Amino acid sequence: MNIPEHVAIILDGNGRWAKSKGMPRTYGHTMGAKNVEKICRCAGEMGIKYLTVYAFSTENWSRPGDEVGAIMDLLRNYLKTCKATAEKNNMRVRVIGDKSALAEDIQRSIAELEEFSKDYDGLTFQIALNYGSRDEIKRAVNAILSEMKSGVIPEGSEITEEMISAHLDTAGIPDPDLLIRTSGEERLSNYLLWQCAYTEFYFTDVHWPAFTGDELKKAVEVYSSRQRRFGKTGEQVS
Ligand code: FPP
Repeated sequence: MNIPEHVAIILDGNGRWAKSKGMPRTYGHTMGAKNVEKICRCAGEMGIKYLTVYAFSTENWSRPGDEVGAIMDLLRNYLKTCKATAEKNNMRVRVIGDKSALAEDIQRSIAELEEFSKDYDGLTFQIALNYGSRDEIKRAVNAILSEMKSGVIPEGSEITEEMISAHLDTAGIPDPDLLIRTSGEERLSNYLLWQCAYTEFYFTDVHWPAFTGDELKKAVEVYSSRQRRFGKTGEQVS
């Protein structure tokens, strides 16, 4: 089987899953967060090298305040316990997105976790937090402009695709080979727009908290059976 090197997931359906069980949305988020840990382990065991999950988008701030608060508390707890998980699973953790808008204690936990896990060479787990792809591209272009002003990049240089990739939050990480979205929606929702130029998409009706290791294997099998016409950088491979 052709195992994708990088799998990106849009976690969707925590709320609908909880509703189907007569439970509050926050219960869906709690179980969704637990499932993230399980799928990380399965991904590592399958030989996937990079897993990127959409945990909180720049648009998610518009949800009711108590729901945002509950999600932030879940993330807070997850980041605290994640050191032990990273050590146990030889997992490197990175956070992508605009961290500056997150609470200071969350920013500190992220910095500690990234530093603590930086040399683990099993799965690299990327969490997209306060992430929006258009915002990421905008920040990258502004960073390039400011490096041009300060002379780090010679002024008047042409902006290249490589330059943009190198200034994204995902710099140094290969583009996703496979993108999975759970819960029946079939859109990108401002996720990794630049990075998904050649990515295969897989959609499933299963809600995120019910998405199992077997579901991940099914997605990888479908991916593996597809004839990829283009390589990651656009070169024709078949
Ligand atoms: C998706 O379901 C929910 C989110 C994208 C926000 C919360 C995410 C988590 C709790 C996962 C936590 C991640 C880590 C890394 C611990 P939804 O609420 O959009 O579901 P719905 O479409 O059914 O309402």
